[in-house]
Amino acid sequence: MNEKVQRYIRELFSNDPEVMANPTCYIYDLAEISERIREIQRYKLANVSLYYAMKANPNLTVLEHVLAHDEIAGIEIASIGELEKVRKAGLKEDSRVLFTGPGKTPKELEEAVRSKIRFINVESVVEAIRINEIAKRLNIAKVNILLRVNINYYLDGASEYMAGMSTKMGIDQSRFYDDYKIISELEHINICGFHVFAADGVLDYEILIRYADEVFKFVQEAEKVVGNVDVIDFGGGFGIDYTKAGRHFDTKTYFEELGKTLKKYSFEGKEIILELGKFIVGSAGYYVTQIVDIKDCKGMKHIVTAGGVNHMRLPIATDRKHPVYIIEMGVPNLYEGQIEVSNETVDIEGPLCMTEDKISWNEPIEHARIGDIVVLTQSGAYCFSASTLWFLSHEMPLEIVIK
Ligand SMILES: Cc1ncc(COP(=O)(O)O)c(C=O)c1O
Repeated sequence: MNEKVQRYIRELFSNDPEVMANPTCYIYDLAEISERIREIQRYKLANVSLYYAMKANPNLTVLEHVLAHDEIAGIEIASIGELEKVRKAGLKEDSRVLFTGPGKTPKELEEAVRSKIRFINVESVVEAIRINEIAKRLNIAKVNILLRVNINYYLDGASEYMAGMSTKMGIDQSRFYDDYKIISELEHINICGFHVFAADGVLDYEILIRYADEVFKFVQEAEKVVGNVDVIDFGGGFGIDYTKAGRHFDTKTYFEELGKTLKKYSFEGKEIILELGKFIVGSAGYYVTQIVDIKDCKGMKHIVTAGGVNHMRLPIATDRKHPVYIIEMGVPNLYEGQIEVSNETVDIEGPLCMTEDKISWNEPIEHARIGDIVVLTQSGAYCFSASTLWFLSHEMPLEIVIK
């Protein structure tokens, strides 16, 4: 684990009264976020635009920090609530916003049309008709959209799938030409391209390149009917490693291979959009909580921490553990013979009255005592905001940034 962050955590839990009173927090290392954005910028092709998928981490300071990078073309939102939040974080131009997500309400669509965001990523005929009616009523000549398509290709090797199987996302490839015909005849709709986000958490760049090849094949065929397409939005998907092995998505080779694949289809003139979330913020985040008790029950030890799945739901929700580190704090024992952990395999659980309240399980721990700190790394994306924060009305975890 990053030494700088480890020192910072020890300091917080030793001296910061707010943290000591409510000993669970998320820590976000802004330098790591900058590193990831610059890494993409270093290798990306000139026709690739990098957007930040703010659903991954909508913390205001994180958003402000992301927006401060010229390398970021804009923000991908999944609700109008996110639009309001990113405006609060300092986004001046709504024209830097993309709006994706199934089930956008008519009210949300109206706000998106009024705001003249760059693209509404349209997920169905119904959505397109609603947008058209809104634009007509508001006297807006054209609304720029990307059509989200679920192509017939399953890109095996991700942690979650949005396409390539039956999902609610986008238009099924088998309906594409019929639906396209209806949408293309709507007077106020301007179809600028396709949105094809298929899967999240892909660590192997070759999988995404094979998918890009399949998408380009689809686009090449579709262009015979729909004419030239300017934009292809791949969504997110660059993975991070949730093991201590620390594998890193090979951005350099990904972009080299993407360049070759674009060339194969003579697509170098198209804009390729990436809406990355996890890759930009995932490794920058740490979930940190203090051990309040240790139980020895029917042959197994349970480390009980101040925060559980109410703060950190991602591991149990995805059945995927995060790397765990213990920071020893040397807190005196409350009684002689107090239970501690020494080279044992334990569950690490929160304060909720349910057995599924585990932030890690079957975890080999070298040494841990009451008062020590448990750190789950790789916790910057889909952790704080995707947790059931008000369940049992425990205190919220603090969110702290290292600037
Ligand atoms: C439409 C869309 N774009 C981008 C992303 C970001 O994906 P990731 O965090 O894998 O980069 C998501 C995540 O679910 C998404 O639904």
